[in-house]
Amino acid sequence: MKLLFFLSGSSTLFAKEEVISLLNSYGIKYEITFSEGQLLIIKTSNIIIDFIFRLGLTHFVLDIISDSIIDEKIDKTLSEIQWDSQLNFDRTFKVRVKNKENREYNNLELLIAKSISKYFENYIKADLTNPMDEIIGLVFKNNLYIGKKIFERNKKDFNKRKPQLRPFFSPTSIDPRIARAMINISQAQKEILDPFTGTGGILIEAGLIGLDTYGLDIEEKSVIGTKTNLLNYGIKNFDIRSGDARKISEIFERNFESIVTDAPYGRSTKIDKDKEKMYRDCFFSILESFKKRCVIGLDKEYPFDELGFRIENIYSFRVHKSLTRHLHVLSRR
Ligand SMILES: C[S@@+](CC[C@H](N)C(=O)[O-])C[C@H]1O[C@@H](n2cnc3c(N)ncnc32)[C@H](O)[C@@H]1O
Repeated sequence: MKLLFFLSGSSTLFAKEEVISLLNSYGIKYEITFSEGQLLIIKTSNIIIDFIFRLGLTHFVLDIISDSIIDEKIDKTLSEIQWDSQLNFDRTFKVRVKNKENREYNNLELLIAKSISKYFENYIKADLTNPMDEIIGLVFKNNLYIGKKIFERNKKDFNKRKPQLRPFFSPTSIDPRIARAMINISQAQKEILDPFTGTGGILIEAGLIGLDTYGLDIEEKSVIGTKTNLLNYGIKNFDIRSGDARKISEIFERNFESIVTDAPYGRSTKIDKDKEKMYRDCFFSILESFKKRCVIGLDKEYPFDELGFRIENIYSFRVHKSLTRHLHVLSRR
């Protein structure tokens, strides 16, 4: 099967890393057949890809039915599609076309719907409000990709979890879609530790995809606030402790599958005068405590390789005029 991932436009490279990290962590064999702009197409023989629901930075995923050039023969091309590979006359359907590029072909939705109806000799029903199957046509550089939607990210749900809408709030908390992608890039399948939990923004996203959540914060009010926020989103499987990130293994007496965190930045750290020493000690403690990967956010690029980490990648996001967040994807050497 060929799957098309339509990635977020504002953080496309990070979105691509999220998909690839999940494919790799679930041991899926795949080949990238196309990757340009917001489009990522892979070929795989795995029929069920059950991690797809975890994605934070992919708008939707299509199981590709057809991929063709849009030209004057498009009618004929559409009439040759074997629609029964994905649709059935017992089920209802709807067609949606995303076409920001080619204004000439603004009737593609109708052409595709007609081709489906004709193929099933009008025995298939369209339902525009509550269809059982959704066919999406995507126009990209004069190509038309048609597929059945197998996943669409729930925008409303993510918006409901924006930092300012949580009971315990801090303006420094990460956007929930980015937090979700950080977790997926960490390749965690069972559990996450956030040693600077703050308001619990990262742990909320981990809990919602069924991971066990562990947190640490030096301030008692953040420990209580994180627990309040987790409970507010129905997450009960947590262990949040009060303590110093320099002492992860002493506090928990164990290590963790993956660590995902947003470290304290300059102005938020009244706690330590020698911030560089604090970073070094905390990062050594993190290095001792993870098995697969860690993803660490900081307001600058940090030489994690000098401490013994392997730097897989660094992604930079401008948050506002005085803050660019650098997300370091790290593994063991
Ligand atoms: C940037 S915030 C974390 C933001 C978090 N990702 C969120 O969504 O709210 C940093 C947090 O680290 C905590 N902190 C600072 N120094 C610490 C240390 N040495 N050990 C543990 N927590 C610490 C602060 O109390 C603060 O709550």
